[in-house]
Amino acid sequence: MAVSVAVDEPGLLLEGPHWDSRTGTLLYVDIHGQHVHRWDPVTKQKDTYDIDCMVGAVVPRESGGAVVAAGTKFAFLDFETRQLNTVATVDPHKPRNRFNDGKCDAAGRFWAGTMGDEPVPTKVDRKAGSLYCLHTDGNVTKAFNEVDISNGLAWTSDNSIMYYIDSLQYSVDAFDFDLPTGMLRNRRQVKTFDPPVDGVPDGMCIDTDGKLWIAMFDAGQVLQVDPETGTQLRSISFPAPRTTSCCFGGPNLDIMYVTSSRVGYSAEEVQQKPLSGCVFQVTGLGARGTPGMCYNG
Ligand code: BGC
Ligand code: CA
Repeated sequence: MAVSVAVDEPGLLLEGPHWDSRTGTLLYVDIHGQHVHRWDPVTKQKDTYDIDCMVGAVVPRESGGAVVAAGTKFAFLDFETRQLNTVATVDPHKPRNRFNDGKCDAAGRFWAGTMGDEPVPTKVDRKAGSLYCLHTDGNVTKAFNEVDISNGLAWTSDNSIMYYIDSLQYSVDAFDFDLPTGMLRNRRQVKTFDPPVDGVPDGMCIDTDGKLWIAMFDAGQVLQVDPETGTQLRSISFPAPRTTSCCFGGPNLDIMYVTSSRVGYSAEEVQQKPLSGCVFQVTGLGARGTPGMCYNG
């Protein structure tokens, strides 16, 4: 196994990596930098799209372009014209809220959650966020509220379970998932963490064996966890403590891409941890991911 820097151009708060198999590119966001990035690992070219607010998540649309969860809006991004068109807004009474992590389910719905104001990393206005679903017909429903920092989404390959992380609950939760309707039932914890030693659970992805890979913010690690037993199977260390999220990518879906953050660091800390804010890649893991789903509306 080898860890190396994939995109050697640090951003501020890189998040939400998504491998787009159709174009062979990695999509990810810089939340504080207010950018969507599209990086081609073959040509090493990076295309950057400016977003007019903090952008928490980006996922390709089946019909072309992408859907983003940015500020408190869902919007479509046209890669050619670079235009952003709002399709819905959420949290109208919480103007300081913003969208954070988001992902699509196998029916092509886009799930994304919000969080309250966060003046210092992880010091957030508590319980101000909610998890939302943008359905393929453009309707938005709220799945639940009282969320601290909405993060890590993943589904089992049979779509019977959705995994979810509210970071400051220090757990991975599971829901019974109904693919035809998108209904969530029976929330329970499948893994708990000990702060501060373990760090803060952030973004996650799932491999073809149904094991979760969880980026631990402030621990510089991605952990492989068996959600059926709650046991930690493996850990990978990164030369950046604020690891934020991970996904499988590459032509065989066997390269893991890991994003990181430098937000909250002083100039001195940035000098000490200069790779903070880079995208890393892990090869030779011996694990593969399932393809990232697109938005189908
Ligand atoms: C958020 C950050 C937050 C971090 C904590 C990320 O998903 O975007 O703002 O500090 O989670 O784990
Ligand atoms: Ca995240």
